[in-house]
Amino acid sequence: MNPSAVVELVGAGYAYEDGPAVLRGVDFAVPEGRSIALLGRNGSGKTTMLRLLSGGLRCGSGRLLLEGREVSYDRAGLTRLRTTVQLVVQDPDDQLFAASVGQDVSFGPMNLGLPETEVRERVREALEALDITALEDRPTHLLSYGQRKRAAIAGAVAMRPRVLVLDEPTAGLDPHGQERLLAVLDRLRDAGTTVVMATHDVDLALRWADDAAVLTPEGPRTGPVAGLLADQALLDAAGLRRPWGMAVTRLLRDRGLLGADVPGPRTPEELDAWAAAVREA
Ligand SMILES: Nc1ncnc2c1ncn2[C@@H]1O[C@H](COP(=O)(O)OP(=O)(O)OP(=O)(O)O)[C@@H](O)[C@H]1O
Ligand SMILES: [Mg+2]
Repeated sequence: MNPSAVVELVGAGYAYEDGPAVLRGVDFAVPEGRSIALLGRNGSGKTTMLRLLSGGLRCGSGRLLLEGREVSYDRAGLTRLRTTVQLVVQDPDDQLFAASVGQDVSFGPMNLGLPETEVRERVREALEALDITALEDRPTHLLSYGQRKRAAIAGAVAMRPRVLVLDEPTAGLDPHGQERLLAVLDRLRDAGTTVVMATHDVDLALRWADDAAVLTPEGPRTGPVAGLLADQALLDAAGLRRPWGMAVTRLLRDRGLLGADVPGPRTPEELDAWAAAVREA
């Protein structure tokens, strides 16, 4: 058990009906205030793990702990879990169902039985956080894909979760949309929200996350993201590519241009900044 974990899977296993085990003996802790990337190839079990973590699926074996206490899957237990951990699924069309953006975002808080003024405040805050205030009265089915993604995330943010769990939030977004979403996630992180994101984008993980969990056939390996993504054997086992930033960092270190204790560039912009600093010096 990890004492700093808000939510934690301990020895968790899961198999879909009539299927083989997808996850076996998985230990995965989400400590408060960390940004965590869940990495793995297609079919490695990322979505399954996120659904176990947020209570949509129930562990076949092992346990789900919320603040160190085992989650009971009765009404009270699930409410306690859902007000702490909110999952946003990959396809916004599986999440959005109300006629307008505002109605959709207000659904969760209303369901908690909160007073109307509080619901309105939360909706305003969530729309603002996702930068979609202007879309409040728009029918959800008329939005662009990127707008629907943000509306779906706003619905989760309106629940003011301590842990926001996002399944491939950048998939299908253009580079500009990805940057905007990362800026939103940075703001949420600064406001104290813990974010867990499933992705196969190793460059994104290196740049955004503090920690990573890399799913391999032997189970997840967890730790600070830069350390895990520098481990070629682990990347091979997980079927992931080496991040671009890691390749550059290694080249710079091999050429004696970057000290072993100086973090390497993770984006083209950071490489430019590094090159400019070197020129100045
Ligand atoms: N509803 C389901 N019924 C039966 N098997 C399922 C179901 N959902 C997923 N699986 C199986 O469980 C395994 C893990 O799937 P999961 O969706 O968790 O992987 P993933 O890492 O999220 O993949 P992707 O990157 O493609 O989203 C796969 O082998 C998949 O076929
Ligand atoms: Mg998935």
